[in-house]
Amino acid sequence: MTSTDQQPFLSVKDLKVHFSTEDGIVKAVDGLSFDLARGRTLGIVGESGSGKSVTNLTILGLHNPDSTKVEGSIELDGEELNGAPEKTLEKLRGNKMAMIFQDALASLSPYHTIGKQIGETYRKHTGASKQEARARAIEMLRRVGIPQPDVRVDDYPHQFSGGMRQRAMIAMALVCDPQLLIADEPTTALDVTVQAQIMDLLKDLQQEFGTSIIFITHDLGVIADIADDVLVMYGGRCVERGSKEEVLRAPQHPYTWGLLGSMPSLDGPVDVPLNPIPGSPPSLLNPPSGCRFHPRCAFAEKVDGNRCATESPVLEITDGRGNACHLTDEQRREFFSDLAGSQAH
Ligand SMILES: Nc1ncnc2c1ncn2[C@@H]1O[C@H](COP(=O)(O)OP(=O)(O)OP(=O)(O)O)[C@@H](O)[C@H]1O
Ligand code: SF4
Ligand SMILES: [Mg+2]
Repeated sequence: MTSTDQQPFLSVKDLKVHFSTEDGIVKAVDGLSFDLARGRTLGIVGESGSGKSVTNLTILGLHNPDSTKVEGSIELDGEELNGAPEKTLEKLRGNKMAMIFQDALASLSPYHTIGKQIGETYRKHTGASKQEARARAIEMLRRVGIPQPDVRVDDYPHQFSGGMRQRAMIAMALVCDPQLLIADEPTTALDVTVQAQIMDLLKDLQQEFGTSIIFITHDLGVIADIADDVLVMYGGRCVERGSKEEVLRAPQHPYTWGLLGSMPSLDGPVDVPLNPIPGSPPSLLNPPSGCRFHPRCAFAEKVDGNRCATESPVLEITDGRGNACHLTDEQRREFFSDLAGSQAH
């Protein structure tokens, strides 16, 4: 193995994404660090507004530079993306990194056929002829399981069902074999059967192409299905990171306990009582002092000296595993086993 093989494929360090708005500075992402290895899937989970989409749009360079301040480092395969010229990012988008969204209709143009849209992306990055691009579009549609791809290639997006559009968007994202695929809630709008088919498709394509995937979701059940590693975000920061098994079976952070507790049913991971997290997500204009979760945390009083309200816990990661919380490991084990145990009664 060369040293490049051992480096993470994507390395995000102390990322801050702050928006200037009429009301003040929105600190949407505020000191986020994580790594993603080649061929792995990182699930990012967190409530609405925790900064999941902003993080990933920033990785792709899809933010307005006039109103957005981006600090920190985003290294893709050893290349720094923060501050890179738009031309460089444009070349990387679609080619080395690509994104699929929840809403395929919004990312496909209604005025062009599916085949033309997939083909154009291919031509833009490879300089292929129109004929080659059409053949490639048909091939990609076949790969993502569209029946009669040589006929459906000439359909417009509105002629496709929701699930087929989602497949077409995946085909478009993968047409240039990107090494990084960012999937932002790509199955949320689909029914469970189609959702399962799309997830299987992504897993197959990952096997085939060795793609690294970031999969953003609210749904820990989806994480259980698709992720290798999990990053839990709260208020623009990472509060817990680990392998899927670690985070779902032995979660360390009170916020993750809350997330697991608000899942109706989870196949496999430990069940804790169904109990929504009280309160609402933090303001990103005026985030709470100390631990951003402290106004909602039932365990803040177990930490000495009001530290939760005054001192921001540092995220410490060893071998990919860690959390940002002032509780001791012993307290953590005790409180979590109490929570998990109480559901048996
Ligand atoms: N261009 C912008 N200007 C100002 N604030 C923004 C902008 N884009 C996002 N935000 C704010 O940043 C915060 C994080 O948003 P983001 O879309 O990343 O959340 P999310 O975790 O993806 O949520 P969801 O699960 O609802 O998709 C939100 O409070 C959002 O209102
Ligand atoms: S640091 Fe304190 S408030 Fe934050 S999660 Fe841990 S116990 Fe709760
Ligand atoms: Mg989002």
